[in-house]
Amino acid sequence: MSEAGSVNQQSNLRGAREEYYDQIAEYDLSPLWEVNKRLVTPEPVIEAKPHLWDYDAIRASLMRSGELITTKEAQRRVLILENPGLDHSHRITESLFGGLQLIMPGEIAPAHRHSPAALRFIMEGEGAYTAVSGERSYMKPGDFIITPAWAWHNHGHEGDEPVVWLDGLDIPMVAAFGPLFFEMYPDDVAPASVPPGDSLARYGANMRPVGQGWSKLESPIFNYPYDRSREALEQLRRDSDWDPCCGLKLQYVNPTTGGSAMPTIATFLQLLPKDFKGESWRTTEGIVYSPTEGSGRVIVQNGDETVTMDWKEKDIFCVPCWMPHRLEAYEDAVLFSFSDRAAQEKLGIWREIRGA
Ligand SMILES: [Fe+2]
Repeated sequence: MSEAGSVNQQSNLRGAREEYYDQIAEYDLSPLWEVNKRLVTPEPVIEAKPHLWDYDAIRASLMRSGELITTKEAQRRVLILENPGLDHSHRITESLFGGLQLIMPGEIAPAHRHSPAALRFIMEGEGAYTAVSGERSYMKPGDFIITPAWAWHNHGHEGDEPVVWLDGLDIPMVAAFGPLFFEMYPDDVAPASVPPGDSLARYGANMRPVGQGWSKLESPIFNYPYDRSREALEQLRRDSDWDPCCGLKLQYVNPTTGGSAMPTIATFLQLLPKDFKGESWRTTEGIVYSPTEGSGRVIVQNGDETVTMDWKEKDIFCVPCWMPHRLEAYEDAVLFSFSDRAAQEKLGIWREIRGA
């Protein structure tokens, strides 16, 4: 066949294919071979960006919300941490929601429940409490608190200073599957059915009640006090090997299984010694960090772009999926973090590359 004939034949075939694609579209069909390279990419294509929220810069805006709307009106007075790469879709990473919640003295955040699970990490203030599944617990800075999926919960504040916490929820994950449910309790406060401290007494002393089973996916402990977790890190620093990427890093676990304290979100507390210069860590989990002590910087590689962010106490920064990052500490530093690792591990899709 002549060259011209071959070009003609290819042009006819292209036209026939386009016509065919239009025809099958009427039956809600499309050809995989035309979209496959975009559908399943050789490596993750991530829209979220590495980003840092400077707590000192945003605190005044958060406090202003306390003058403009009550917790009762808002149900929850939360400023959403919007990832600048995700077009205000109320996500801090591809799969996680993040927010800063403010409760003022005397306020009550009315009781409700929802199918997404939530964590709280207390940033500042004392005197506020949360009640989860009928048990009340007072919150102090650094405490990590779980609100399991579909558990009744309300918050209140009996102190005299604003209380702020970091909220982390798996809303985008639940939304991807579909089953988003929400329900208000008929009264502001759900009735107390368990005395304060009950769950920690039953399960928080490396013991468990004999003859009682625990079959729920989340940890039976819903408040992990900071002083206990911090003391564990301090004890370990004396004779432990430092992980080259993460320093000393502990995961909050469900004591009945040893697995993640929450079924979808993994949570951690880590210590970095002064002058720590971490090796590169690349992982598929999208991570949200919030330092509780000290200062340092994180260097994130987002494709060709190197992003360096200086962090200090109470800042919040995120490192999206599959972006190599290195942590450095200018002084002794402690960082809380949460990620979608727990869900990814259950699905068999989590992976990491340690070092360069
Ligand atoms: Fe809630």
